[in-house]
Amino acid sequence: MTFFAPSSFAGKGKPISLPQCGACGLYRGCKSPKMPFTGSANLNMLVVGESPGENEDEQGRQFVGKAGQCLRQLCDEAGFSLDDCWLTNSLICRPPANKLEDQQIGYCRPNLLNTIAQLKPKVIVLLGGSAVESLIGSEWGGDIGPMSRWAGYTIPSSKYGCWICPTYHPSFIERSNRDPLLWKTVREHLAQAYKLAKSPGKAPCCPLDALKAKVEVITDPRQAKARLMALAVAEGVLAFDYETTGLKPERPEQRIVSASFCLNGEETFACMVNGLIPSYLSLVLKNPKLKKVASNLKFEERWTRQKLGHGVANWDWDTMLAAHYIDNRPGITSVKFQAYVHLGIGEYDHWVDEEKKADGANELNRMAEANPEDMLMYCGLDSLLEYLVMERQKGVLGL
Ligand code: URA
Repeated sequence: MTFFAPSSFAGKGKPISLPQCGACGLYRGCKSPKMPFTGSANLNMLVVGESPGENEDEQGRQFVGKAGQCLRQLCDEAGFSLDDCWLTNSLICRPPANKLEDQQIGYCRPNLLNTIAQLKPKVIVLLGGSAVESLIGSEWGGDIGPMSRWAGYTIPSSKYGCWICPTYHPSFIERSNRDPLLWKTVREHLAQAYKLAKSPGKAPCCPLDALKAKVEVITDPRQAKARLMALAVAEGVLAFDYETTGLKPERPEQRIVSASFCLNGEETFACMVNGLIPSYLSLVLKNPKLKKVASNLKFEERWTRQKLGHGVANWDWDTMLAAHYIDNRPGITSVKFQAYVHLGIGEYDHWVDEEKKADGANELNRMAEANPEDMLMYCGLDSLLEYLVMERQKGVLGL
């Protein structure tokens, strides 16, 4: 947790870590307690490992043991020297027998965040699951899952204003007896990070507040009708998204609570779906001059058929399908994950997790009871993010 020094203090306004550092007690049992970052500013790149090992603890410097040698060799092959980077770890004290506990990563996280605030690196390389848990866990809500889900992405983090580049830990490579495929993969990830460090300009930032400012929350049904009538005769690319009372639409009590639209990436709004709105919604979805985009289009198609009595005309893109086509790893296709790895948008939907919970696929959730303004903002962000993710995916595919 970070607090800011009050104006009466020296260093006013600077972030201060609460004294969680020390709560794990590890500093008592090691030779180099609370090891500060080391290294050089030459590349403006911070490399984050797991924790100091025996050699590091002896010498008071990161990556001087076997894993360090492996990492050095990989960096050399990737075209740069580890000596030109700053180095730190997700734990800055050596844990006994090099065994980490999740809670320790949480206690030590403010140390990493303070290091980042101080150095303002252009690129952060995260080596292994502990480093990913420590940094990505601070801005991406939800379970981090396995390391294999993150390795190789170059994430333009909005919160930290830099590129975040996760890859596998050198000890993992050593344990695999330097498996040639793993070696090549990590070398490529490091080369990517180096290329970003050398590229002109900073990581492109896409702050959540700037996106929220683009979403119009429409609670007046007359206004909603007018906007839908305009979409019914519009042309271009339309990303759309529903919030519903459940996963499956077949039960009559299930209903579409709200809908949102992002037209050509320029105009985004969300409105409730009640009263006469479904008939105007139908005109929009039947408009053949609008190419439709969704995340998991079979969900929107199924609900449209069941509740509006017709299909959606002119499907053009499904961000979920495209994500799977680009990269077939599990756990990466949601718009939330795609928005994070492509746009650096961290947590934007945490409040809705509870509202969306239901006892089963056919049961009702609590979306209909949610605060309408909050829900419409969330719904609108989903359409805008779908559109932006589609653009990035088309870029990756060279379309
Ligand atoms: N040395 C470090 O400093 N960190 C690691 O994660 C491994 C070795």
